[in-house]
Order: sequence, then structure tokens, then C-alpha cells
Amino acid sequence: MTLAEKLGQLTMAAAGHAVTGPVIAGDSVEAIKAGIIGNLLNLMGADHVHAMQRLAVEQSRLHIPVLFALDVTHGYRTLFPVSLAEASLFDPEAWALTAREAAKEACADGIAMTFAPMIDVSRDPRWGRSVEGPGEDPWVGARMAEAKVRGTQGAELASADSLAAVAKHYCAYGPVTAGREYASVDISERTLREVHLPPFEAAVRAGAASIMPAFTDLAGIPMTAHAALLDGWLRARLGFEGVLVSDYNAIGELIRHGIAADAAEAAALALKAGVDIDMMASCYRNGLPVALNRGLVTLADIDRSVRRVLALKERLGLFDDPYRRGSAPETDAAIARRRQLARDVAARSIVMLTNRADALPLEGSARTLALVGPLADASAEMRGPWWAAAGPEGQVTALEGLRAALPRSEIRYAPGVAIEAQDTAGIPAAVELCDNADAVVLCLGEAAAMSGEAASRAHLGLPGQQRLLAEAVLERARARSKPAIAVLFSGRPLIVPWLIERADAVLAAWFLGSEAGNAIAEVITGRVSPSGRTAMSWPQAVGQIPLFYGERPSGRPANPVDHYTSKYLDAPNEPQFPFGHGLTYGRFVLSDLTVTPETLQEGGALEARVAVSNEGRKAAEETVFLFVHDKLARVARPVLELKGVAKVRLQPGERGSVRFELPASELRFLGMDLQPVFEPGEVEILVGPCADRKQLLSTTIRLSA
Ligand code: BGC
Repeated sequence: MTLAEKLGQLTMAAAGHAVTGPVIAGDSVEAIKAGIIGNLLNLMGADHVHAMQRLAVEQSRLHIPVLFALDVTHGYRTLFPVSLAEASLFDPEAWALTAREAAKEACADGIAMTFAPMIDVSRDPRWGRSVEGPGEDPWVGARMAEAKVRGTQGAELASADSLAAVAKHYCAYGPVTAGREYASVDISERTLREVHLPPFEAAVRAGAASIMPAFTDLAGIPMTAHAALLDGWLRARLGFEGVLVSDYNAIGELIRHGIAADAAEAAALALKAGVDIDMMASCYRNGLPVALNRGLVTLADIDRSVRRVLALKERLGLFDDPYRRGSAPETDAAIARRRQLARDVAARSIVMLTNRADALPLEGSARTLALVGPLADASAEMRGPWWAAAGPEGQVTALEGLRAALPRSEIRYAPGVAIEAQDTAGIPAAVELCDNADAVVLCLGEAAAMSGEAASRAHLGLPGQQRLLAEAVLERARARSKPAIAVLFSGRPLIVPWLIERADAVLAAWFLGSEAGNAIAEVITGRVSPSGRTAMSWPQAVGQIPLFYGERPSGRPANPVDHYTSKYLDAPNEPQFPFGHGLTYGRFVLSDLTVTPETLQEGGALEARVAVSNEGRKAAEETVFLFVHDKLARVARPVLELKGVAKVRLQPGERGSVRFELPASELRFLGMDLQPVFEPGEVEILVGPCADRKQLLSTTIRLSA
């Protein structure tokens, strides 16, 4: 290979669509034929992908196939709920299944790699990218990472329906300063290892083909050039042998980070740190020849990365058959089954935050329903901030879903206001709809583009004039003694204490994808009992952020009658809703926690059992969390740490149980030297419906050497 051909394999350029067909940015068609672009992102459609592939395979000197990549984050054409919504399931099998289906659908269109899963832990809902990930907990992040890698890559990467997974964004992207996108990150080595690395370690162990470094810097070292964390942690320590692909133009941005003077230096820093593919900066193509001349890199450095990229293409089966993906259209039955899965998962992603006086489900009693709000009939918004090949039309809206589910009811609809605009002229008409309605459903929230990349917010309330609309509607519904249900659409927990206080029931519907409206209708009508649990704590005030259940104890814990304690003067410490919160149509009572053995040794395992009974009047699924708290350790441990989740479905009046098994090794923690230790002492085992200590059953066991 010539140097230019080698650098081509280390280059990823963007492609798009013109009216007449696919175009590739700039000089890329010729560049592909010349073998100096080896990877493309954002080209969709099997015909287009194959046409482009033919240029490489038939017209380039070395006939090396192109790797086609795309952000298939929560579905390709059929959209599943956004990741933060799906996290509410706490169900790795479901996470793997949706990833499998997304991969099949994308592969049928010729794609071979997805920039997913996004597994950045986020404890800051101001950060818009919270929507793309697993929420606040590292244990959940790790389980989601494994499940998504497994589902995306399938049993064999070379299969025509397997995608290479790119775990991103490595790492500690979530704690950007003040929740502001792309801002600097500065956290302790301990937090890095305890909170932000575990999901990536899990992704590597699950066999992720690729990893993408984050745009951000960590204490002054941009992740794109972080040799200690890329080459050191990932490759040397975890044995990661896959491809590191930069984020979009991130190598070029090393110049603005202030650690590289020009493209050659930027390229050299990234390559030396272990980054194999330069996405969209052209620094490798243009800068590495200069860096070679200056002696900043060697040919051996370049060859190492080229080998990794070629090895990935080989693993994907591209050399055997570059047209394998995208050669067989899917059957209608496969597409219909996927759509059904999207509906089931969407319904299970909904978190019922409140339900006063059993306002929900509405069942058959609501013959006339007033459906109000700018998100009631907003197909495009239901997609969330990534949508791959899903067009703006075609997502089932709440209006469509409710009309289909309640064919005998009259459903009157008025948006009232737009999502963000200031115009309030539509409010009176929307309020009037409530007059003759048996129930009111308010569909409120963010536009999809208000979360995701470059979508940080400093105010986490409802945008535009939605509060004015909601207050007017709630007042009228109360005056008429009619139940008012709020459905919140958002890519993050919203801060709406006034709404929580005044609505009869509130559902967090996040962005649920293609089947959003059907899923919402199923929950509202009671065909599905909600079972989602929030994977992020919901704040009551922006000043509480970052807010997460797993904090370390203070030496002066909050005490309302003691001034010098850890609290706010003007807001409670407690979240509006704790991590794991979510109501069902059942009423579950947990009792009889037993944990054995009472004394546990390092090689052993503990078993925890708890009885669960459904004392409500409807069948439902309960989610039970297992937390631990190491009461006395040389390094203070979090007040609660999640170690397991179990689910049980019970009929009204039925009694069952859940069981957890936990290897003692899971009770190790990073000691003073940041190495894992198993320290003798007492550990509290806590089991219950969410991370609110008051709702947990607990017992204490001893660890012994
Ligand atoms: C995002 C990545 C994404 C990439 C390619 C970047 O701006 O940060 O998450 O995979 O673009 O679309």
C-alpha cells in the first residue's frame, strides 16, 4: 500500500443525498476510486451504498471495500424509544432485542457499523446528551453496554445482519462543566474509575468492535489524544483490539483545545494515543505525511492502525462479500414483528410519575376526551434527537393512538400553543375543549431537538408558553371536577413541581419512537400497566444538579433543625422523584427480606429473597432493586450502590417473591490505592422499589476475610 492508500483506510468522510442520488462531500467520489477514502458515514439506502461500494471494489487499485457507518442509536427506520426511555425498562434482554432489530434493519440497507451504544453515565439533566444514554448509574450503564453490544453485533460479526458497535463517548463526557455541551471535564480518578469507566469496560468485555473517544478533555487532556486512557487503559489494560474512531472533526479540534499547533501535530497526537480512524477532520490524510517528515510519527504507527481497520473489515466479512449487507430485502412479516416490538418496548418505557386517586387508567369511562398541547400530534418529535432513516411523518402520535384505542370516544384536540413560541392566542379554545370532556390529557414537553447533541439547557421547565396553557387547562378541569392527566415528552427529567402538584396523574413519555402514540394509549386506557422506572433522579430545582442517589455521606448530614448541616436554605435535598421511581396499576408490598449467609467470604455469594404481593386491583409488574451500603470502609462508600434488579408480574391478590444472587466479589471496592479490595466489615443489603431509603427493606451482613 502507498502511504496515501494507508491513510485512506484511516479516513472517514461524510456522504449525503442530492436530488439525483448520493453525493459525497467534496472530492470523495474520486477519492474513493483513488483509494484515499476508506470509510463513509451517513450514506443510506442499499442501492446507494452498493453503488459507492462498487467504486471502491471495482475501480480502486487495491479493491478494498468501504466501511459504511451511521448513527443507528435507537432504531433505523423503525424507531424504538430513545435510550434514556429504554433505560426505564431495566431489562437487558429487551435492550439487546431492540439493538438486534435495529441492526437487522440497518444492515438490510447496507450499513455495516453504528455509532452506538452511547453509554455515558449522566447525572446532569442540563446536558442534552443524557437522552442518548443509560442514565445516572454505572451498573445500569454496564448492563446496557453489554446488552447493546450483544444485540448490535449478533452472534457473528460477519453475518449479513450484524453491525459493528461503536461504544461511545469514551469517557466521562457526562460531567461536562455545568452541564454545558462540549465543555471541559474535571473529575477525580476515583469517580472516573467507579462511575464512568465501568460501562466501557463492560462494552470491551462484550466484544465491542470499536470505541469512539469523546470530544471533551479530561483535566486538560482531550480524550482524542488521551494516550493513558486510550492506548493505556483500553488497549494495554483491558486488551481492547478493535478500532478507535474519532468523533466528528475531533482530531482537528485538538488545535482549538490548545494542545496542537497544526493538523500535523493534531494527527500525530491522536495517532500516538491510539486513534485509528479520523472522522471528518482530514488531519490524517493531510497532516500525517507532514508529521512523518517531522519525525512525530513512524510508519509503524500508521501501519498498526491500518492493520486494525483492515482487520475490522475482515471481521465484518467485507472482503468475502462487500455486498452481503443490503442484498436481501426484509419480509413484511419481519417488519411487522419489529413494529410490534417497538410498541411493546415503548409502552414499557413510560414511567408513571404520579397517579392521584387512581385517575389512571381512564378505561371506558371517558366518552369525550380533551387532548390538549403541542406534543399531542407531533410525529417528528416522537423520533427524539436521532432518527437514522425514519422520516418526520409516520410516528404514531398520541392523538392517533388514542383515537385508535378508543374508537367509541370522541377525542377533541387543540394544540393550544406551539412548543417554543410565545403566541398564546390558542389557549382559550384549548381550555374550552375541557368543558364537555370526561377527562383531559395534556401533552407537554420539549421539542426533540432540545435534547441530544449541542442541546444543553439551563432552565429545565416547559419551554414557550406551555405552562400558561397547562395552568389554564388544569384550572378548568378542576372547576368541572374532571381528571387531568399530563403526558411529558422530553429527553431528560424536567423540573415541573407545579405540574406534579396539580395534575391528577403525570406520565413521563420521553421520546418513544415510531409507536409512541399507541404505547401511550395502551397505558392511558389500562391495556398495559405502566412498569417503567426512571433511570435518572428528577430534580425539584436546577440548583440541586448534579443530583444522583449514589452520593457519598457527608460528615454533617442534612438536619432541618441544625443549621450547620448539608442542605439548601431554599430547597429540599430530596429529588422530586428518586432514581428507580415509577408507579404501576398494581399496589405492591414488599416484606420478609432474607439474606444468606450472614457472614460472607470473598469466594462466596450471597442470596437475597424478598416476598412481593400485589394488593391492588390490577395485574402489574413490579421492579425490585438490590442496593448495598458498605457502612465502614477506609474510603467512604456511597450511601447506596445498585447491584441488581429483578422483576415479578403478579395478578391482583397474588403473592410471589424475587431472588438475587450476588457474588461476594461484587462487594469489592477500589481501595486507597484504587485497586480492588474486599474489606472485612459490615455491609447493609437493601431491597425495594427505588433509591429512596425510606422505601427499602434492609439487613446487615458481615464480610470476613
Ligand atoms: C457525535 C457522535 C456521532 C457523530 C457522527 C458527532 O457529532 O458526537 O455521537 O456519532 O457525530 O454522526
